[in-house]
Amino acid sequence: MDSNGKPVVLITGCSQGGIGHALAKEFAANDCLVVATGRSLVSMPDLQQDSRFFLQELDVVSAESVNRVVSNVIEKYGRVDVLVNNAGVQCVAPLAEIPLSALERTFNTNFYGPVRLVQAVVPHMASRRKGKIVNVGSVIALAPTPWAGAYSASKAALHSLTDSLRLELRPFGIDVINVVPGAIRSKIGNSAIALYNQMPDWKLYKPFEAKIRERAYLSQGLKSTPSEDFASKTVAVVLKKNPPAWFSYGHHSTAMAIMYHLPLFIRDFIYRRVFKF
Ligand SMILES: NC(=O)c1ccc[n+]([C@@H]2O[C@H](COP(=O)([O-])OP(=O)(O)OC[C@H]3O[C@@H](n4cnc5c(N)ncnc54)[C@H](OP(=O)(O)O)[C@@H]3O)[C@@H](O)[C@H]2O)c1
Repeated sequence: MDSNGKPVVLITGCSQGGIGHALAKEFAANDCLVVATGRSLVSMPDLQQDSRFFLQELDVVSAESVNRVVSNVIEKYGRVDVLVNNAGVQCVAPLAEIPLSALERTFNTNFYGPVRLVQAVVPHMASRRKGKIVNVGSVIALAPTPWAGAYSASKAALHSLTDSLRLELRPFGIDVINVVPGAIRSKIGNSAIALYNQMPDWKLYKPFEAKIRERAYLSQGLKSTPSEDFASKTVAVVLKKNPPAWFSYGHHSTAMAIMYHLPLFIRDFIYRRVFKF
């Protein structure tokens, strides 16, 4: 068991090129013991060669996988100080025709995944009356666009859960933080297209095919915030003694916060222009 007092941070979805990977490196740079996890160790080649990281294969849709990794971490370090629920999948498709299996996969990863991790780590955190849980939401939940309804709904559900969880875990000394990225450079567009390529041909929405594909890359424009920049701001906030309940950062995060407060007829008007309806 480790006794050097460094925070033990468990992060999901640390594949190279994504936000989780940047967070793992930033937590390590801030003297934390980082458990970097991913569906496959192959997706984190550089971390494999770096002794600052304890690498584990973890698939958030599998309770067995989640419980095995949390047990391994407890065995090695005796605690989890910070859990970062970062793993997530984008999903683009028209809601009237999306296969329910795709909708379920999105929720299973983005919503039930964090729940599995929370239920696995909370008993350990509660026994020490100490811990932080970071759920990575999205600004898109504030003002959902067309074609990403499944993803936005899964993140809105996660935001809602995060708010309840924060109140429920307060008596046990556990902080819960909703980290809400704007548009951050990562592999999310490529992963979304890989999943989209497995979808059936649309019926009513065939003419919108190009727009739907374009939507997968909406967060990956030239002005997107580098994941390292996002990670350095986020880690500084999470490691504060009293972290805030909400932290949003990145390209378009202010614009989306404003969109959230606009009357719906104005928001719809703006989106109809942006998405050319
Ligand atoms: N990039 C943005 O603009 C943006 C904006 C708002 C919110 N976010 C959120 O930020 C988080 C990180 O996304 P990202 O942008 O870094 O995308 P990314 O580059 O695609 O990374 C997503 C990570 O999640 C992992 N993952 C997917 N399904 C998983 C599963 N079942 N179990 C474990 N890991 C799984 C991926 O692993 P594989 O490599 O194996 O697929 C990858 O490591 C997500 O929650 C995303 O929704 C991103």
